[in-house]
This record gives sequence, structure tokens and C-alpha cells, in this order.
Amino acid sequence: GDNALYLAHKHGIDLEGACEASLACSTCHVYVKSEFCAKLPAPEEREDDMLDMAPMLQENSRLGCQII
Ligand code: FES
Repeated sequence: GDNALYLAHKHGIDLEGACEASLACSTCHVYVKSEFCAKLPAPEEREDDMLDMAPMLQENSRLGCQII
């Protein structure tokens, strides 16, 4: 699908995505620019749970594969 992880790969950006968008890893962790962050729906609980395991977690952290 056209999630941010897929788009990153399509554009040659080296973002990991070990579980292929099944919310079983945090390797697709990205930081979202604040002006864009506000436009995204809030992360669901499963995304939040995975994000908690991501290193260097920030206020604007999201899982790339969940950004559509
Ligand atoms: Fe694993 Fe995004 S690729 S949660």
C-alpha cells in the first residue's frame, strides 16, 4: 500500500521495515515534521505500544508504515 514506508522505499530512502507493516517491529520509526504531525490521525494503541520500544522516541515519533 501507499504508506510512508512504501513511499520511502519507492523514492530510494533507506528506511527499514522488518515486519512489513504488520505492527510487529519499530524499525520503520520516523520523526514527522510538526506541521505535518498535526494533520495525521493520532496513533492507534498498537502503534503506540510498538513506538514505546523504539529507540530515541520523540514527541513527533511515528511508525512509517502506519502513516497513510
Ligand atoms: Fe514493522 Fe512498521 S514495518 S511496524
